[in-house]
Amino acid sequence: MRIERPRYTERFGAVRINEMQKVLELDSGRAREMRTYEDISAQKIEEDAIKDVEEKMAIVIPTKDEKLKLFEGVISGVPHECLIIVVSNSERGRVDRFMMEKGTLNQFCQFTQRQAFIIHQKDPVLAQALTEAGYTDLLDEHERVRDGKAEGMILAMLMATMAKKKHIGFIDADNYFPGAVWEYVKCYAAGFSMAQSPYAMVRILWHYKPKISGGIYFKKWGRVSETTNKCLNSLISAQTGFETDIIRTGNAGEHAMTLKLAQILPYASGYAVEPQELMSILEGFGGVLPMEQPTAAKHGIEVFQIETRNPHLHEEKGVEHLEEMLLPGLGSIYYSPLCQEETKQLIIDQLLSQNAIKPNEELPKPHLSPPLKEADLKKFATFMEEHLESYSVLEKE
Ligand code: GDD
Ligand code: MG
Repeated sequence: MRIERPRYTERFGAVRINEMQKVLELDSGRAREMRTYEDISAQKIEEDAIKDVEEKMAIVIPTKDEKLKLFEGVISGVPHECLIIVVSNSERGRVDRFMMEKGTLNQFCQFTQRQAFIIHQKDPVLAQALTEAGYTDLLDEHERVRDGKAEGMILAMLMATMAKKKHIGFIDADNYFPGAVWEYVKCYAAGFSMAQSPYAMVRILWHYKPKISGGIYFKKWGRVSETTNKCLNSLISAQTGFETDIIRTGNAGEHAMTLKLAQILPYASGYAVEPQELMSILEGFGGVLPMEQPTAAKHGIEVFQIETRNPHLHEEKGVEHLEEMLLPGLGSIYYSPLCQEETKQLIIDQLLSQNAIKPNEELPKPHLSPPLKEADLKKFATFMEEHLESYSVLEKE
């Protein structure tokens, strides 16, 4: 794969945010022993370097009642070396959609000779394992894991730690193009192979996100992403006194982290999770608030933003759904101790103009889960390993 080198890097304390980098070639050819010249504008990431990362990477697919055909396409796009972890919150009632997902994954693993885990978010064993680990923040009043994509992601981080992986990447289950899934993973791997720090994050943005209404229109930005990026950039600009538009991936659902980084960040519930990750990084390592993680601060936190070639086409879930996403995401910026008055006002103005709040209505404060390093990861793993057979889908179900 050949990717643009980052032309510019914004630095805040120990945080380095790289400007967006485009994928130039999906396949950049054989590794050559002798390089004839050093290309300063682009970086070739060799096949072997990508595979080395993929071997250490878990790819997480959060799913809730998605079409089985889409789920099947998504898993087929995950490169062979990666461990697949499916965290499902699908219906288990009259129609047991979870069993259908498990059956599909099982068959895929048998044909392709690979390993995967599949867990159901509401499985009481998971709640027990979390209790053993002293990490009960994810549980609701019925002692089950709460609904939400973020809650599923946190469970997957624990599973990936248990499987001794070094990297974790997330890919939604409602993607129509297996080729796009494949490219996301390649970009994650390329990002990690470029990273200097063991505390790194790769966030994806897409070249186009097609909309079908009459004809097909290759739209670049969604309304939610555009607003979230604007508010994040406003927060950073107000802090530094220099206007910036560095953040292009505020809502990036498709993103990956080293597990070292994943374990030290606090996470917001539901759809606030992605903007909150950036807030947690800026709060923890941006140099304005005290830095409480000296090892990570010493290495620095690196953020890559990579623009893919495949268009992103996923299930259209309606306008209401978009509003459900906008509000919590902006809430995570609004309530940050780094957020200054002008950014707060911008957030309110944006929400009012998009009818997402009424005048004088308070923004909901996102729920924050503590960093995973506060959980007893060993106890979680020991408990889960006793029950592992039911989650692993290499052998029989
Ligand atoms: N495990 C689990 N639990 N998965 C869930 C849950 C849940 O409670 N709710 C949703 N999911 C799964 C969906 O099935 C899908 O695979 C993925 O999480 C994303 O949910 P969507 O409902 O498709 O979200 P979206 O397409 O509107 O938004 C996506 O893109 C945004 C912008 O890039 C998400 O990835 C957002 O988090 C992201 O900000
Ligand atoms: Mg979607």
